[in-house]
Amino acid sequence: MPGARNGDRPIACVVGARPNYMKMAPLARAFAANAALPRAVLVHTGQHYDVAMNDRLFADLELPPPDVNLEVGSASHAVQTAEVMRRFEPLVDELSPRAVIVVGDVNSTLACALVAAKKGVPIVHVEAGLRSYDRTMPEEINRVLTDQVADLLYTTERGAADNLLREGIAAERIRFVGNVMIDSLLRHRRRAVAPADTLARAGVAVGPVTSPAGYGVVTLHRPSNVDDATALRESLCLLRDAARHLPLVWPVHPRARASIDRLGLSSLLADAAVTLLPPQGYLEMLGLMVHARLVLTDSGGIQEETTALGVPCLTMRENTERPITVDQGTNTLVGRDAARALACLQAVLAGGGKRGRIPELWDGHAAERIAADLASWLGVARARGEAAAA
Ligand code: UD1
Repeated sequence: MPGARNGDRPIACVVGARPNYMKMAPLARAFAANAALPRAVLVHTGQHYDVAMNDRLFADLELPPPDVNLEVGSASHAVQTAEVMRRFEPLVDELSPRAVIVVGDVNSTLACALVAAKKGVPIVHVEAGLRSYDRTMPEEINRVLTDQVADLLYTTERGAADNLLREGIAAERIRFVGNVMIDSLLRHRRRAVAPADTLARAGVAVGPVTSPAGYGVVTLHRPSNVDDATALRESLCLLRDAARHLPLVWPVHPRARASIDRLGLSSLLADAAVTLLPPQGYLEMLGLMVHARLVLTDSGGIQEETTALGVPCLTMRENTERPITVDQGTNTLVGRDAARALACLQAVLAGGGKRGRIPELWDGHAAERIAADLASWLGVARARGEAAAA
C-alpha cells in the first residue's frame, strides 16, 4: 500500500471493470499530487479479470497495480453485486476510509457505494447525473442508485445537474468539473498505437486500415444488442451492410464473442469485410479510433471519446445518457436500424458527417479540479466533525 500521509485514514478508490480504469487513472495521479489529500488506496473488485480487459489497460494508463483485489469475477448481476458487497465490507472496516470514491456506472460502482452508505462512509461519485431514462439498462439502475447515496457528485456535463435536482439531490452536493476520461485521452493520445501495427500484432491482414478509403471501428457489448438472438442478428446484419461501403475492424468484447458462438451466428459475417480482433489495450483502441472514418458502437465512453477526437460516431442504441455528444459532439443515434446507419455512413463517406465541438471543461484537467475540491470538502467535513466532538 502507498505510504501513510498525514498519519491519516485513507480514501478508498474503487475500480471494477474496463471503463473504470481510464476514469480512475487521472484521479489516482491527481490525488497523489495533492498533498492536502489523505493517501489513496486503490481497490479492484475483480469484476473484469482477463489480461486484455484488465492488466494491459492498467499498464497503458499508467495506473498503479491495485493495493487490494477482491477477485469477484463474473456472475449474474445479483450475485456479482452481492459478492462485491460481501468482500468490500470487511475492507471498509479495516481501512476506515475518510471517503469511498466510485466512478461510472458498473455493478462494482453501485455495490461499493451501497456498502459505504450502510457504514456511514462518505461517497464520492465521479461521472454522476448521466441518465438514459432507460431502466432496462443495468447501468441506468446503477447510476440512479449510486447518485442517491452519494454525498459528493462530480458531473461531466451541465445537464447532469438537472437530472440530479429532479431526483431530489441537493444542489450543494453537485459539482460540474468536466470529464476525467478525456483527461486520459488527451494525456495518452500521442502514444496511440498505429492501426497497422495493431492488426499486424493480431496476425490479421492490415489491408483495411491502410486502404486510402479508410476503415470504421466497431464495438458492441450491450446486453440489449448482443444477448438476444434477434437483436444480435440485426446488429450483425447492420455491420455486414455497412462493411459493403467501408471495411470494419471490430475488437470483440467477450460477452459478444460468447453470444455469437452460443447462437451460432458467426456465418453472418463470414464473407463481410469485417476484421475481428480480440479485446485491445487502451493505446491500440485509441489508435484505431483516431484514424477511423467513423466508429459504430453501443459503448457509453466511446461516444465521449469520439466527440473529443472529432470522429463521427454512430451509436447503436435508441437513447444515450450522454446527450452532449449528440447536441455538441459527433454522435448520432442509429439503433439497430440499418437504413439509418447506412444513410449516416454515406454522409460521412461523402465528406460530411458531424464535425462537432469539444464540450465545456473536457480539457484534460478534470481530475485536478476534483482533487482540489475534494481536499477542501474533506477539510470542511473534518473541521465539522472536530467541532461537534469538542
Ligand atoms: C461491464 C459493465 C458495462 C461496461 C462493460 C465494459 C456492468 C453492469 N456492466 O459489462 O457497463 O460497459 O463492463 O466492458 O457492470 N468476461 C470475460 N473476461 C472478463 C470480464 C468478463 O470473459 O475479464 C465475460 C464473462 O463471460 C462475463 C461477461 O464477459 O460473464 C460479462 O462481463 P460483466 O462484467 O458481467 O459485464 P460486461 O458485459 O463486461
